Amino acid sequence: MELPFAESYKIKMVETIRKSTREEREQWIKEAKYNLFNLKSDQVFIDLLTDSGTGAMSDKQWSEMMLGDESYAGASSYYKLKDTIKELLGFEYFLPTHQGRAAENVLFSSLVKEGDLVPGNSHFDTTKGHIEFRKATAIDCTIDEAFDTQKLHPFKGNIDLNKLEEVLKNNPKEKIPFVIVTVTCNSSGGQPVSMQNMKEVKALAEHYDIPVVYDSARFAENAYFIKEREEGYADKTIKQIVKEMFSFADAMTMSSKKDAIVNMGGFIAMRSEEWFRNASVYNIMFEGFVTYGGMSGRDMNALAAGLREGTEYDYLNTRIRQVAYLGEKLTEYGVPVQKPFGGHAIFVDAKRFLPNLPKEQYIAQTLAIELYLEAGVRGVEIGTLLADRDPKTRENRYPDLELLRLAIPRRVYTNNHMDVIAAALKNVYDRREEITSGLKIVREAPIMRHFTVEMEHL
Ligand code: F0G
Repeated sequence: MELPFAESYKIKMVETIRKSTREEREQWIKEAKYNLFNLKSDQVFIDLLTDSGTGAMSDKQWSEMMLGDESYAGASSYYKLKDTIKELLGFEYFLPTHQGRAAENVLFSSLVKEGDLVPGNSHFDTTKGHIEFRKATAIDCTIDEAFDTQKLHPFKGNIDLNKLEEVLKNNPKEKIPFVIVTVTCNSSGGQPVSMQNMKEVKALAEHYDIPVVYDSARFAENAYFIKEREEGYADKTIKQIVKEMFSFADAMTMSSKKDAIVNMGGFIAMRSEEWFRNASVYNIMFEGFVTYGGMSGRDMNALAAGLREGTEYDYLNTRIRQVAYLGEKLTEYGVPVQKPFGGHAIFVDAKRFLPNLPKEQYIAQTLAIELYLEAGVRGVEIGTLLADRDPKTRENRYPDLELLRLAIPRRVYTNNHMDVIAAALKNVYDRREEITSGLKIVREAPIMRHFTVEMEHL
């Protein structure tokens, strides 16, 4: 008999989680103004709000914490991380930051100015936020296939080269500080970018003399998909693939809370000494001195170890197979989900799930609330709330996709938890005809409103 698949780790420490009753959840979500970010964590049974900073560190990472050097300047932990980044990712210069959006803030402060255009593949909301905050514009050049959840394409994160060229050739190069490639592309469903596409984007950008920056939060998961799906990579190690990926980038921003499996941290890495010098000024102003930039020494040590572990095939295989396990269960139950399954999350197609709700009633948020009420499972809306209003017209922007994201924390839940999540969504799906009204906004922030929005049931 062929041996079944099992996780590439065993469990050394556990944390108790608590179930609740539907009545309790009804009360709590009302008090939370129908915003899942307002719930207390002990009001949640299975927390799929994000895979960011929610992973379980390994025994090796924890032991590295004890070796942290907390010197203000020149800490050995800084050099350990610098050497790891050079070895694994190939960048000469790096700046630590406290998380991914801080890396964006520092780098964009030195590169993006009013009126600029930043083309890329479905920019993540903080990335777009940091562009728009500087009165510049993010232009989405993702391939059209990404916007049909049922269309199978191995690399739905890819940039459409024609769309990109339109931007590059019709604008002066001074207005385009860089092209940004998000690997994997979170906003289009945790979908990977192919090596071929990275190569072509770099060649096209180079032709117009424009640098390329990678938003790298889930670069290792992207490398796993390249190994599994792209011709010529099956026999390469993840570390070889990662090195090749970054050879097509001039710089990267990193939220280490994802693929580096730490609870807090980020960095910028780059080839240009000039970029490093310019960004260092902002790093010192916003984050901290260049050798710690918002991170303690122990955290830089754990991050260095996490980068090594996060680029191991066995770990990634366990991780991505668990996400696929949930996706397959949901598919078996008829629940419409983004296909192929993403690397860090399953994305439920809320428009197909609740076809009778008008888009003005926040379809994906309505579904997220229903799932929470059903079983205490907390997902997150990736739809109209997240898309914010148009900065000029102040009208709601209705994205092509209304998704409920079920992000799976790394090394945290078992497949029994996946079974509960799938059954809960099936139950909601079975009673979908009864869900006839959605939500309205009563209060919202001018930018990144989904974190703090207050809503009411219609
Ligand atoms: N880029 C991508 C692709 C991201 O997914 C995130 C964060 C960031 C940048 C910002 O990093 O949170 O460390 O400041 N994504 C989280 C999520 C929040 O839930 O997907 P950060």
